[in-house]
Amino acid sequence: MSELKWWQRGVIYQIYPRSFQDSNGDGIGDLPGIAARLGYITALGADAVWISPIYPSPMADFGYDVANYCDIDPIFGTLAEFQQLVDHAHRLGLKVLLDFVPNHTSDQHPWFELSRSSRDNPKRDWYLWRDPAPDGGPPNNWMSRMGGSAWEWDEATGQYYYHAFLREQPDLNWRNPQVRRAMDDVLRFWLDRGVDGFRVDVLWLLIKDAQFRDNPPNPAYRPGEPGHHRLLQTYTEDQPEVHEIVRSMRATLSEYGEKVLIGEIYLPIARLMTYYGPNGDGADMPFNFQLLNAAWRAGDIARLIRDYNSALPEHAWPNWVLGNHDNPRVASRIGADQARVAAVLLLTLRGTPTLYYGDEIGMTDGHIPPDAIRDPAELRQPGIGQGRDPERTPMQWDGSLPNGGFTTGQPWLPVGTATSVRTQEDDASSLLSLYRRLLELRRSHAALVRGTIANVGAEGDVLTYERCHDDERLLIALNMGREDATVSAHGGVVLLSTLAGRDGQPLREGVNRLSAGEALVAAV
Ligand code: GLC
Repeated sequence: MSELKWWQRGVIYQIYPRSFQDSNGDGIGDLPGIAARLGYITALGADAVWISPIYPSPMADFGYDVANYCDIDPIFGTLAEFQQLVDHAHRLGLKVLLDFVPNHTSDQHPWFELSRSSRDNPKRDWYLWRDPAPDGGPPNNWMSRMGGSAWEWDEATGQYYYHAFLREQPDLNWRNPQVRRAMDDVLRFWLDRGVDGFRVDVLWLLIKDAQFRDNPPNPAYRPGEPGHHRLLQTYTEDQPEVHEIVRSMRATLSEYGEKVLIGEIYLPIARLMTYYGPNGDGADMPFNFQLLNAAWRAGDIARLIRDYNSALPEHAWPNWVLGNHDNPRVASRIGADQARVAAVLLLTLRGTPTLYYGDEIGMTDGHIPPDAIRDPAELRQPGIGQGRDPERTPMQWDGSLPNGGFTTGQPWLPVGTATSVRTQEDDASSLLSLYRRLLELRRSHAALVRGTIANVGAEGDVLTYERCHDDERLLIALNMGREDATVSAHGGVVLLSTLAGRDGQPLREGVNRLSAGEALVAAV
């Protein structure tokens, strides 16, 4: 499989570093903790880890508020420990991706401290400062994604600054060439240390309207939705000038060989596709989040797969995401049985899969008592379902140890107890074993990695599609319902089923039984 790039062949495993493994008993995961668990990730069969932000940060948004782009927060470790982690991962054949957060800094970043120090500081224009409206209020109607106005008044200098998220996260001014150069230096700083690519935070928000026009009202807004949904984001997201920035990031990475640029982009399919760039010179993989909130019905998923595949530009490489640190866990969204079906789906669709830590053992959304809530999104807009603590609870390593083997101290979020790696690793019927078998199957069957995808369809609750390469043809059939169903075939052999004892069994010519919640991959 040599002519595909590593990130086209590989599977990415997302680590939320606060919650993966604590090594020093402070209740928060760290880099030595991750290093100690790399063997688990290679045994699982993933090829790359993406680590959510580990830079020095006041942690107002748990690291997505960066106070220094070129160092490691002491909570997580040191730059030397980071280098050891990268070197160790590379020795194991694992790639390391970092989270790059270019849209905003922390309000405690020295750049912002200078920027707010006076109107004529050279760094003033590095952020988005505006005069008040004639009535003294905010310069326009833009709203923060964490609730309220996106404009924060600065008494000392008599202007407002813009923040798409928390007021502790001022947005950088990407129209300023010095900002671009400084952020390019940040990419180089980490590339020089051997990182294999970046997941770029909120890539579609980087540039705002040059004229700061009011966003129009959103006619589809329904009470109870997050406040910023009251407005269409016409002037605050997906601006045409963003693509030039993506191109220049991509160009920097290209100087360093085969590096990957992944963009966090929540947009409808057609707009998402533009981030590949008109000549394939944009992001390598604009994250495809279609499965995160899709209705879990065979017909809907079939349509979504067809729509995504047919919208892909020529030469663009697809990708699929089932969970991340901003969305409810898949096992909670669709239940434990269907989480097994979802594993088969994620790992047999055409494109690079990204797995969220803990989903491979079916971790569910944690129960967070009110006094344990930590997520600013929930604290700022309580009770409207924006809280992200439930999907960020610590990895459940070992059910027989206190705190799941995650920490010897007090965990920063409560640890779930329903399951653990320990209880699943020797159980051939566990979800963890299923993930390992699926990842193994991907490695041994070229059709799953480089094959075409065809005949995507649904009949009742059963979703089917085929993956083909050379003379290998694989049929994937997933029963997304609660009843037994059937799938038609012209014979073949089951390579993998979520049902015990079916692997290696023949598929009959004609109608074959598919149990409730069963998914299979067959050579046909
Ligand atoms: C991204 C991150 C999210 C963070 C936000 C602001 O959406 O995934 O966790 O709160 O950006 O940086």
